[in-house]
Amino acid sequence: MMQCTDIHDRYLMRLITKKSFLYTEMVTTGAIIHGNATHQLDFNKSIESPVALQLGGSNPDELAKCSEIAESMGYDEINLNLGCPSERVQKGSFGACLMIEPKLVQRCLNAMKQSVSIPVTAKCRTGIDKIEDYDFLKSFVEGIANQNIATIIIHARNAILKGLSPRQNRTIPLLKYDYVYRIKEDFPELEIIINGGIDSLIEAKDHLQKVDGVMLGRAPYDNPMMLENVDKEIFGEPQKRISRLDILKEYLNYLEGLDDPKIRLNQVLKHIYGLNKGLKNARKYRYEINQIMKEGNLSGSFERLSSYLA
Ligand SMILES: Cc1cc2nc3c(=O)[nH]c(=O)nc-3n(C[C@H](O)[C@H](O)[C@H](O)COP(=O)(O)O)c2cc1C
Repeated sequence: MMQCTDIHDRYLMRLITKKSFLYTEMVTTGAIIHGNATHQLDFNKSIESPVALQLGGSNPDELAKCSEIAESMGYDEINLNLGCPSERVQKGSFGACLMIEPKLVQRCLNAMKQSVSIPVTAKCRTGIDKIEDYDFLKSFVEGIANQNIATIIIHARNAILKGLSPRQNRTIPLLKYDYVYRIKEDFPELEIIINGGIDSLIEAKDHLQKVDGVMLGRAPYDNPMMLENVDKEIFGEPQKRISRLDILKEYLNYLEGLDDPKIRLNQVLKHIYGLNKGLKNARKYRYEINQIMKEGNLSGSFERLSSYLA
């Protein structure tokens, strides 16, 4: 998620779950090739893996080149964004608007696939604008599957390109989980991951009766502790509990250890807003974080924040 799932947020998430597959924010091919997004590619394999790099683009050669770079950096998967509806992305002719250009999507995925040996996957919507019929999605998925792409993540809503903001595009179009389930029935050999509006592990488990995986976006970003039981409940691993306080301490130690004068505290501290979700004094906790951001200094921050997480 843009501005959210950066290297630091992924560090935070790994304190809570070792097994969940993590995704970067979308990084455009232009930004990688012209070199102004190197920080978005930052990745600490030994700590974060498994992680997929999500690419945004529509030029097969550029996507292939960026895929090679991602593989050489140790990413575990490359995902092509076919679901972002933002105007900026539409102007660049990638993201969700590619759903009406299935042949181009196929060429892109094919070029990516040819250039690397790690898995290449796609993330799309159920449809675009007024195209609501299931057969559109089915034929789109079929075209992708024909490129030997084995995994498709489907955000179970249409993307509306004109008239809705990206934020509205994540709430207003109706959720169509049944379309995603039908895709799994029609393409049983594909790994189908469902996404959109899933807020709890209980809901996730229900979806797993029908599809192969569940992608969670806003819920764990807003409340990282919702993942505290995921390794046990979903992946069957022994339970390893870590308290909110230990997460806070480890995360702040990690940030201080980076000793990076360029680090933007407002970017890296917003990831812990959600750590106090469900506890008292949420506003005071947020206020204190904002103060630390303003002051630009992490020393003493654990003492200032810990009482809000106890
Ligand atoms: C702030 C924000 C940034 C996002 N950035 C991306 C992105 O870079 N790539 C992407 O595929 N989806 C992005 N999304 C969409 C989410 O990945 C997800 O598809 C959507 O929020 C629905 O899932 P959810 O209800 O679990 O959040 C973003 C969502 C938010 C809220």
